[in-house]
Amino acid sequence: MQRLRVAPPSRAYDVLVGRGALDELGAAVAALGTSGQVVVCSDGHVAPLYLERVGAGLRAAGFEISHIVIPPGEGQKTLARVEEAYGVLYERGIGRGDTVVALGGGVVGDLFGYVAATYQRGLRLVQAPTTLLAQVDAGVGGKTGVDFRAGKNHVGAFYQPWLVVVDPDVLRTLPVRELRSGAAEVVKYGLMAGGRLLDEVEAAAQNGALDAERFDEALIAGCLEEKIAVVEDDEREETGNRAVLNLGHTVGHAVEAAGGFSRFTHGEAVALGLRAALRLSVELCGLPQSEADRGAALLDALGLPAHAAGLDPEEVAGLIRRDKKAGPEGVAYVLLEGLGRPRTGLRVPSDLEREVVAWLTSE
Ligand SMILES: NC(=O)c1ccc[n+]([C@@H]2O[C@H](COP(=O)([O-])OP(=O)(O)OC[C@H]3O[C@@H](n4cnc5c(N)ncnc54)[C@H](O)[C@@H]3O)[C@@H](O)[C@H]2O)c1
Ligand SMILES: [Zn+2]
Repeated sequence: MQRLRVAPPSRAYDVLVGRGALDELGAAVAALGTSGQVVVCSDGHVAPLYLERVGAGLRAAGFEISHIVIPPGEGQKTLARVEEAYGVLYERGIGRGDTVVALGGGVVGDLFGYVAATYQRGLRLVQAPTTLLAQVDAGVGGKTGVDFRAGKNHVGAFYQPWLVVVDPDVLRTLPVRELRSGAAEVVKYGLMAGGRLLDEVEAAAQNGALDAERFDEALIAGCLEEKIAVVEDDEREETGNRAVLNLGHTVGHAVEAAGGFSRFTHGEAVALGLRAALRLSVELCGLPQSEADRGAALLDALGLPAHAAGLDPEEVAGLIRRDKKAGPEGVAYVLLEGLGRPRTGLRVPSDLEREVVAWLTSE
């Protein structure tokens, strides 16, 4: 079991990473000095698999527990679900000293993280991410929120958890498409970090079918160390340093939106965005072609898409220009000067941007 420390300005906390970590959750919450009620929040896929186990550990540690289970899917990240959860917490007399455990993927983590951030101005929050994407990304860093009208994550709060529990064993039940989607984020960290982490990601990607065993404690912890360093440096996305996590996401978000948020998973769209970033990095940042090829080969090995055939390039280009993170001077890209050497805040000439989008959407 590894214990990583996250120490952003607002509050420090630990991330437990290891096989069987879910069985340690109860004792780890007790070790925080918490007493009182614990509400385990999950979705309809994850609850039947893991809720009983987590509940048993919490009960054994002396907690009074109850649960909230929502249907699965991004469509649940709504203010209506938030209000419904407030109602349940109110009926159960939940207050400041009590704890919310978010057991599930990024949807459960974002939604119940926001509930915990806002109910009575803040309950104790424990993130127990169960998708690869949430284990390496959403579970750590303190971004919580819901979708509002057309705005994804439009309403939310920065709210760090008290504890994060990451058990790679739960990935065994994850559908392979979700596993692959998370793998795109793992590649992102590998390209950002270079060095040993990139070697490890490559080793995990080689030979044979994609399965959960490839994403072990060491690999997940390696990705988390990258995320933690960035979050500690720029907790609330103020200095611009957190932007490095956006590698592959400028084009990725546009592809995801152009596909109506259903054609591509987030990770598939990010994989396409990473391919665009690699190509732009060669053109604009001096990334050697051989290093760009190495990155693309890694995405290939994981079975991540190479083309978004059938998307309208004009629409994708338009969506890039409307990027949520665009500043007054336009869209700022994260590109690579080399593997492990990201640079933020870069402008891409519009003709080159069009060319790359046309390439991605061809075939
Ligand atoms: N807060 C952040 O920093 C951050 C970062 C990245 C993404 N996100 C958010 O995360 C969300 C996407 O998260 P996601 O990809 O985890 O999606 P998700 O939560 O929808 O989970 C994907 C699917 O897998 C199922 N599932 C989860 N764990 C499982 C398991 N162990 N076994 C079997 N099935 C399981 C879920 O029920 C769901 O059907 C988006 O809403 C995105 O905005 C947040
Ligand atoms: Zn992402």
